[in-house]
Amino acid sequence: MSKKTTDVSNFALAGFGRFGRHHANVIANYPSSRLLAIAEPNQLAFEQASKEFPETAIFKDPFRMMEEVDVDAISIVSPEDTHAELVKHALNKDIHVFCEKPLSTKLDEARDLVAQAKQKNLLLRLGYILRYEPRHRILQREVQAGRLGTLANIRAKRDASRSWFEAYGHRVHPVYETLVHDIDLVLWISQQRCRSITAWGGYHLGFEEPDTFVMIMEMERGTLCTLESAWLVPDGTPANILGWGEDKQTGNGVVDASIEVLGTKGSAFLKTYESSLTINDESASYFPDLGFWPEIDGRTMGALREELWDFVQTVRGEPNAGVDSLADALHVQEICKAAIDAEKSGLKVKIK
Ligand SMILES: NC(=O)c1ccc[n+]([C@@H]2O[C@H](COP(=O)([O-])OP(=O)(O)OC[C@H]3O[C@@H](n4cnc5c(N)ncnc54)[C@H](O)[C@@H]3O)[C@@H](O)[C@H]2O)c1
Repeated sequence: MSKKTTDVSNFALAGFGRFGRHHANVIANYPSSRLLAIAEPNQLAFEQASKEFPETAIFKDPFRMMEEVDVDAISIVSPEDTHAELVKHALNKDIHVFCEKPLSTKLDEARDLVAQAKQKNLLLRLGYILRYEPRHRILQREVQAGRLGTLANIRAKRDASRSWFEAYGHRVHPVYETLVHDIDLVLWISQQRCRSITAWGGYHLGFEEPDTFVMIMEMERGTLCTLESAWLVPDGTPANILGWGEDKQTGNGVVDASIEVLGTKGSAFLKTYESSLTINDESASYFPDLGFWPEIDGRTMGALREELWDFVQTVRGEPNAGVDSLADALHVQEICKAAIDAEKSGLKVKIK
């Protein structure tokens, strides 16, 4: 898959926000990659990027950036509704793409992008970080080795702070923001396609998008999967995600997620965020993230590093984990649309 076999691979990044600054840190710290350019339209974030990456060209406009710099790949970490247009432009310019979820909130658009990447033999990776987290990888391996027997049920939960929903979570349907991760996990763990969906939404906080969502997926070999997401975790709950705010103190919150897999011969339970390190200060207790994107001595580590370094290695034509699947990524998009249609209509929606 490598486009160039030079010693150093050149990367660009679109969106230097809460998550983008971690992407930038990880890519810049890969030994044979260079973060050549960042595009960030917001003035404050633009200045922050210039300060943190003085040798990187910082642009306001991502399209201009792609015209002016010659890069092998781009990481797209901008708001959800900007992804599709940026991915399309990058693929047109023969640039490999890592795109945070969702690829698009329109199924036809997602199909076109996947077809375009395949036709041009370019990488298109979606940000399904759980595939790169060691406990999830071991769970998937054990299930696929038949340790639990035939899969009967999968139960997944992904709750998040209410204050995050009010601040930005409502900008996209929770199916595309939180549940995409669990839909992807179900496909990867079960290695089955989904046949039908039933779904329900709750609108407690007064936004257009539901703040709670429950969906049931019936899989092709009979596994039944219940997925839930509620953006209602109260502010008093000890935080496990720290430092989203510009001052690295505000914006702390909670992701409360777990997955349970039940088979005819065994079962497995995985709590996504562990509380093995508890810090109590004068005003609160919190559990710093140790596994996903912990920042230690100025370096972002954890599953995000595994995921993005794997992408960099694939771009460079080096050995990789081989856990990503563009076919699954497209099926996730089909399931998201079906779930929203099922909730709106109150009917079971079948997927061909
Ligand atoms: N995989 C995960 O676990 C995970 C975790 C967090 C966020 N995300 C995803 O990452 C993406 C970014 O989320 P965030 O929380 O960092 O959002 P954010 O709002 O904090 O950051 C987005 C940044 O993009 C900038 N931006 C806006 N329009 C742009 C454009 N056209 N081109 C380039 N930059 C643009 C904004 O100014 C902002 O700084 C979202 O898609 C989100 O779903 C994924």
